[in-house]
Amino acid sequence: MPDNFEAPTQPEATLPQVEPLPSCPICRERPVIAIDGPAGAGKSTLAAHLARRFGFLNLETGAMYRALALKAIENDYAFDEEAPLLDLAARTRITLEPQLEGNRVLLDGIDVSRRIREQDVTSAASQISIHHNLRAWMVLQQRALGAAGGVVMEGRDIGTAVFPDAEVKIFLDAAPEVRGNRRFRQIAPTEVPTTRQNSARQSPDSQTPEEQRVAKEAILRDLKERDYRDRHRAESPLQPAADAIILDSTSMTLEEVLARAEQIVHSHISAE
Ligand code: DC
Repeated sequence: MPDNFEAPTQPEATLPQVEPLPSCPICRERPVIAIDGPAGAGKSTLAAHLARRFGFLNLETGAMYRALALKAIENDYAFDEEAPLLDLAARTRITLEPQLEGNRVLLDGIDVSRRIREQDVTSAASQISIHHNLRAWMVLQQRALGAAGGVVMEGRDIGTAVFPDAEVKIFLDAAPEVRGNRRFRQIAPTEVPTTRQNSARQSPDSQTPEEQRVAKEAILRDLKERDYRDRHRAESPLQPAADAIILDSTSMTLEEVLARAEQIVHSHISAE
């Protein structure tokens, strides 16, 4: 299996048609593990861990929305007009290179892995992801990337829209305050929402308690805004698939989450 995943470009003006998946879960040789959930729940950490543990490749679908959002920013596209964005997508090459700790992301051959984590791209990705046809375009790419199985695919709609027949579906959730706090501890200084530019760009440890409080509030506000958009959009809103196992990590340690998810994958895979 190749370990570079490049979304094929499509001819312009071809509207993507998402057909239902064939009702044949055995079409692939290895399983698909779908991990969905809101921002900051720890999906990427979990996906990377499960991929290492089971010898699968991890694919961060959010990185694809982010890469396209970055191209839209760089080319001055409006985020609320679908047709031009779709046209842009058709002329865009997004490559995911699974690594031990996440994905290296190439946009038209250029490494944008760090840039796409910055705040302007984070917000733009959430805004462009509401569009119906754009999502259909993404779903087609993502199905192609995971078609052979042996992947842990992480996002918002993997278990509901991309691979509704995934062998394992985990919906990883946590209370917004807990997710906000975790983000605050992990976040790179440049990702912090810029309400108070100078203090927000320092690392948390060098901030005064007041600066930390302001930065935390900004992160939480941004997270709730994205949550709202992701959960309330008309197209594939963020919600657990009916057959997903919900893992609420609000009062769990990282080790507990990883161990529980491993158990879930084990029990599903060994039952097949
Ligand atoms: O997982 P992330 O934070 O990198 O995702 C960025 C944005 O992309 C997120 O706000 C919603 C969107 N997204 C989506 O709509 N569907 C996916 N499968 C993955 C991400």
